[in-house]
Amino acid sequence: MCGIVGYIGNQDSKEILLKGLEKLEYRGYDSAGIAVMNDNGVQVFKEKGRIADLRNIVDEDVMANTGIGHTRWATHGVPSTVNAHPHQSNSGRFTLVHNGVIENYDILKREYLQGVALKSDTDTEIIVQLIDLFVNEGFTAEEAFRKTLTHLKGSYAIALLDAENNETIFVAKNKSPLLVGLGETFNVVASDAMAMLQVTDQYVELMDKEIVIVTKEEVKIQTLNGEEISRDPYTAELDASDIEKGTYPHYMLKEIDEQPLVMRKIIQKYQGDNEELTIDQEIVEAMNNADRIYIIAAGTSYHAGLVGKQFIEKIAEIPVEVHISSEFGYNMPLLSKKPLFIFISQSGETADSRAVLVSVKEMGHKALTITNVPGSTLSREADYTLLLHAGPEIAVASTKAYTAQIAVLSILAEVTAKSRGLELGFNLVQELGIVANAMEVLCDSKEEFEDIASKFLSTTRNAFFIGRGIDFYVGLEGALKLKEISYIQAEGFAGGELKHGTIALIENGTPIIALATQESVNLSIRGNVKEVAARGANPCIISMKGLETEEDSFIIPEVNELLTPLISVIPLQLISYYAALHRECDVDKPRNLAKSVTVE
Ligand code: F6R
Repeated sequence: MCGIVGYIGNQDSKEILLKGLEKLEYRGYDSAGIAVMNDNGVQVFKEKGRIADLRNIVDEDVMANTGIGHTRWATHGVPSTVNAHPHQSNSGRFTLVHNGVIENYDILKREYLQGVALKSDTDTEIIVQLIDLFVNEGFTAEEAFRKTLTHLKGSYAIALLDAENNETIFVAKNKSPLLVGLGETFNVVASDAMAMLQVTDQYVELMDKEIVIVTKEEVKIQTLNGEEISRDPYTAELDASDIEKGTYPHYMLKEIDEQPLVMRKIIQKYQGDNEELTIDQEIVEAMNNADRIYIIAAGTSYHAGLVGKQFIEKIAEIPVEVHISSEFGYNMPLLSKKPLFIFISQSGETADSRAVLVSVKEMGHKALTITNVPGSTLSREADYTLLLHAGPEIAVASTKAYTAQIAVLSILAEVTAKSRGLELGFNLVQELGIVANAMEVLCDSKEEFEDIASKFLSTTRNAFFIGRGIDFYVGLEGALKLKEISYIQAEGFAGGELKHGTIALIENGTPIIALATQESVNLSIRGNVKEVAARGANPCIISMKGLETEEDSFIIPEVNELLTPLISVIPLQLISYYAALHRECDVDKPRNLAKSVTVE
């Protein structure tokens, strides 16, 4: 989703901004722009399409030590050069980039800007025109900025340039993520630390309703009322090589291959001194104090939550409900007396999940966030955090974060079960070790998955994923992976459910990808495959060793039955990857999608 960068210092800002925007490309965007400021004023360059297109139009001869940049993921107004940020006030004095959504922009437009000719369809332009208006009424730039912010309803991360003051970037944040990065002779602004890791690893988090006056020497954080805030910086523990593709053609493939390593890292991070798995005692107590757990998440993280429910109910014997975050806020079920909320989010910034977190905290409930990003909004605002330790996930399609989420949920269930004196019947450290080895075998079988993709998916318009029990949940994830990156219409179904309607869609050759990793439902899922095959479908069965038959297309190595999602998903990730490649899709940056969905 939209990304912001800003630089103020002694170096030429163009290249720093463009490089920063390239690092934010993974978030998903449809246009981009930069504004640079020197003694001659502000120059804006913006373009629909990729950063590479923007690079082509930036005037190499302009030298400026201050600048801001933006990648836009359209919400108000189509993707176009006019709607791309930065936006300028009609006087040309103010130039601004914004992430988030201004909910009352239409009201503000009618109330204050009747006579102002707006250039774009965006909610953002309202902000910059309002600042101009208030300056014309006699306020200083800083006063006008503050006054404008008090009128805004919704979410924003903003960086603002004033052509009459080339020593300052004005910054503000509410709900949308934004950081300030510190350097010796410069300071920067960024939606995430990755963007500006090229110049600094020292960052200061910003809280909602704060504004920051950034100069090259100083970063002054204040409340909207002007009270000064002091906050220590933290070191962003990111390795620049973690965010490079290396020799891989795509981040997605690299991240799929990283999964065995991530499993081993998770085991190591959650092992205590005696090699037993361990979790912060406060979290275990919160689990034990709860009479019901509510897992809240979106997309792939929601799918991981469905698997997590199985673990927590079967291993720790606590009832669990799993909810889609964008629905939960408006359609809240009757809560139990002592609920515990678990938010699962790779980015820790998903606005739909955050909205639920804010309301359950207001209701006085405890919340745990499981996330890949330390210091992310969902992590900061929950009572407890469990980290995924998966390393940055850059490809829009989530892969290693999904398996990391499932592994961490299994550890949470195991540690809670043990604290309740429940017997597991297996050693989770060993079982996760076996999973890591099995993942390696699968990652080494890419050619087979490429063949499956070309045999089943090269020309199809649609595909169905079926499974029963835990395989059904993995099927949902397989379908999401396939549709988001290859644009093949794909749906996941419970094996027994197809004949209640969806079987009407089966035509000659329709691919059915069936998962058969669970002994208790092996015969019934195979029965469902026969039903669709009898109607012309083209079944591709992925089974587990010990349950296989001759008709299966691929047999995954044997692992603990509960943990099969950790490995049965890898064939589905790789099949989706190759299907997208065959169709010449942009694997890492699928159309219309954003990595970090920071608007509700
Ligand atoms: C799909 C995908 C999305 C995310 C969803 C939630 O591959 O990545 O469905 O899972 O947008 O994002 P997080 O986990 O960051 O809250």
